[in-house]
Amino acid sequence: MVTDVVPSLGIVIVAAGSGTRLGHPEPKAFVALAGRSLLERSLATVLSLAEPASVVIVAPTSHGQQARDIAQRIGGAVRDHIQVVDGGATRQASVARGIAALPTECDAVLVHDAARALQPVAVFERVLARVREAGAGVIPVMPVIDTIARRDAEGRVVGQVDRSELAAVQTPQGFPAAAYRAALESATAEHTDDAGVFAAAGGEIVAVDGDAHGFKITTPWDLRRAELLLESERPRLRTGIGIDVHAYDEAAPMWLGGLYWPDEPGLAGHSDGDAISHAVCDALLSAAGLGDIGSRFGVDDPRFADARGAVFLSATVELVRTAGFEIVNVAVQVVARRPRFSPRRHEVEALLTGLLGAPVSVAATTSDGLGFTGRGEGVTAVATALLSA
Ligand code: CTP
Ligand code: MG
Repeated sequence: MVTDVVPSLGIVIVAAGSGTRLGHPEPKAFVALAGRSLLERSLATVLSLAEPASVVIVAPTSHGQQARDIAQRIGGAVRDHIQVVDGGATRQASVARGIAALPTECDAVLVHDAARALQPVAVFERVLARVREAGAGVIPVMPVIDTIARRDAEGRVVGQVDRSELAAVQTPQGFPAAAYRAALESATAEHTDDAGVFAAAGGEIVAVDGDAHGFKITTPWDLRRAELLLESERPRLRTGIGIDVHAYDEAAPMWLGGLYWPDEPGLAGHSDGDAISHAVCDALLSAAGLGDIGSRFGVDDPRFADARGAVFLSATVELVRTAGFEIVNVAVQVVARRPRFSPRRHEVEALLTGLLGAPVSVAATTSDGLGFTGRGEGVTAVATALLSA
């Protein structure tokens, strides 16, 4: 670790299997799931634990360098402290090599299948807390949903098993370190999981809740299912842009950003000429794919003749929400010689933030004497909006 203190938690990620059932050319842990390998996803979850850990990745000999590259890429400040060791012929042998590489100072160990790439960090935390409380082996489990039948060698069903007594076992599995090391050393048989090794040596095992995302990616179907789960859970974001320009009209009152600006020339237009409010409306409508202010609030609509910017903004927010979007934020850039914006910038931001129910930031600039804004003929406002669906 970056400090000299060795963490008391050790985590082994087993990633040395070949993935026969998945059938990809590369070992399963190095197969990409929506752009990131199963190993990378599992390691990222481990690194998001609040408690620091010594981490060992067990990789196929052919892929040790790739595993080290992943650790370097996502390991940040602890990247040089993530070890990679070669796997063994069986999962149990791979686990034993990983455990052997952990510092002896570790008092608790977690063993996780890289193939359970979507197991949430909360399950890791739950297992670890229980190891410390109970001083026992801990497995995360899921209830068995299907009816379980017992059948004979000929395929005849010879009875049912009471499924309320059954549980499907996931990883990470956690153990008091010294007892688990001893269990691995004394193991004489192959077990399908770590709790099997621990129980064979007389260790007590307790169960905590697993998570539906903790399924083991084993077949092509599982991989596709994992991809679709990630896709459906990703927030759908949409950006939009809007621009508005109005010329000064000395005879009109100045309304900009929803505020009245006394002693300033006003802006010409069908409504109050509030270029900021109009640009924000266009950005919101553009992000939602709802057209623009002209097509939504036509000049013939009496509700909007001479209407304040706030009226357009409230009506736009309503449209965007009805279409199923939440506003994430809005940013505005004003280009104008007048009004001098900075003294009231926070006032404009607070007003618009209140109207939209989401953060609005406003910046202002002049255009260095260039163009119509530089000549003081009018105001330009540009806005971007981010929505989530
Ligand atoms: N594993 C390992 N060393 C082995 C075998 C398996 O480190 N000799 C790891 C796998 O990489 C995986 C986990 O143990 O993360 C669970 O194993 P499994 O899902 O069976 O993976 P594979 O053995 O790779 O797949 P298959 O059985 O389809 O070949
Ligand atoms: Mg296997």
